[in-house]
Amino acid sequence: MLAARAREIIRRCRLLAECSEEPGWTTRTFLSPVMRAVHSDLAAWMVDLGMNVRVDQVGNLHGVYEASRPDARRFFIGSHLDTVPRAGAFDGVLGVVLGIALVELLNGERFPFAIEVVGFSEEEGVRFGVPFIGSRAFTGSADAVLLARRDAGGVSVADAIRQYGLNPASIRDAVAESRAVGYLEFHIEQGPVLDTLGIPLGIVDMIVGQTRAEAVFTGAPGHAGTTPMARRRDALAAAAEWTVAVEREAHATPGLVATVGRVQADPGVGNVIAGRCAATLDVRHQDDTVRKATVHKLETSAREIAARRTLDVTWTARLDQPAVAMNPGLVSTLERAVRRAGAPVHHLSSGAGHDAMIVASRMPAAMLFLRSPGGLSHHPDESVTEEDVAMALEAGRHFLNELS
Ligand code: HGY
Ligand code: MN
Ligand code: MN
Repeated sequence: MLAARAREIIRRCRLLAECSEEPGWTTRTFLSPVMRAVHSDLAAWMVDLGMNVRVDQVGNLHGVYEASRPDARRFFIGSHLDTVPRAGAFDGVLGVVLGIALVELLNGERFPFAIEVVGFSEEEGVRFGVPFIGSRAFTGSADAVLLARRDAGGVSVADAIRQYGLNPASIRDAVAESRAVGYLEFHIEQGPVLDTLGIPLGIVDMIVGQTRAEAVFTGAPGHAGTTPMARRRDALAAAAEWTVAVEREAHATPGLVATVGRVQADPGVGNVIAGRCAATLDVRHQDDTVRKATVHKLETSAREIAARRTLDVTWTARLDQPAVAMNPGLVSTLERAVRRAGAPVHHLSSGAGHDAMIVASRMPAAMLFLRSPGGLSHHPDESVTEEDVAMALEAGRHFLNELS
């Protein structure tokens, strides 16, 4: 019986994956028009279960399954509905579709708490360079600075909200009640740990901290054919030297990962020396002190490389997200639920950032990972198995029983 529900969950995720800004790929950024199709499918599935559905002013989708008594506290189950460019079908959306399937599995049984399934409008940070817009509004930490951030086209977050037909002045309507019971996020692991161990589910103890920043090197553009090497101030060459320095520092720092994910050279044509080059930085580590010390080293390295090459460099810190521990009480409830589902209990930390790390500032939060076959994610071939989805559904059912 759970196998059929698991198959339907996977079918629904793959259906929603077709709601994309890029035909043939899965690309869905903050409040892009295709998000309406995602909301309408999810809302239909929620309404079928008698859930009360609404979209808040920052584009988060909410579906409430009432409690056994009025004005009960709420337990939230959710994840994000946006994606990275050319993503897979499960990062984020699985947590929302599985939450709806869990409500369906209750078959009308009510708990002393209401269950609210939330689909956050933005977690990846693709459009505006900063992540967690939806969950920051949900926890009341979406401020004027965030609303003023502009995308590559100069559109601000507030403009994007207005263009979608919502009202940025009313985003306080997204804030979750302060007496919430807690939050559970089902999510694919997105890494190789569970797959290597041959384990279907993982209980997240903590989510590592992350820094996002950008270094912009400015030198002198020039003709690729006529400019002698000794007279060049090549911004792309400087960014490339820095990228190798980032990789070297990460290899030398146990437990740390660092990535230069995007390098943008101007004018970016083959026969012109780049006068300007922007390079992004993403640094993650369990220990915030190690992460911050490494970021400082990498900023210093960018400045040293620029100085030696007589270039200028600007450094912009975009995100300094501390590591966040999951709620110990919910973690032990998850442990009992996973055991009752008949799966091995395995604890791990999350190298990927998640909405749970933001929600944890407002209520007890926990995450249950599903195995990522091949450890692959942020890629069209990202997948989950029916057996693991069925196991997660069963663990979720036990979790709600344990919670009540
Ligand atoms: O980048 C991350 O950690 C997540 O996929 N948003
Ligand atoms: Mn992601
Ligand atoms: Mn995600």
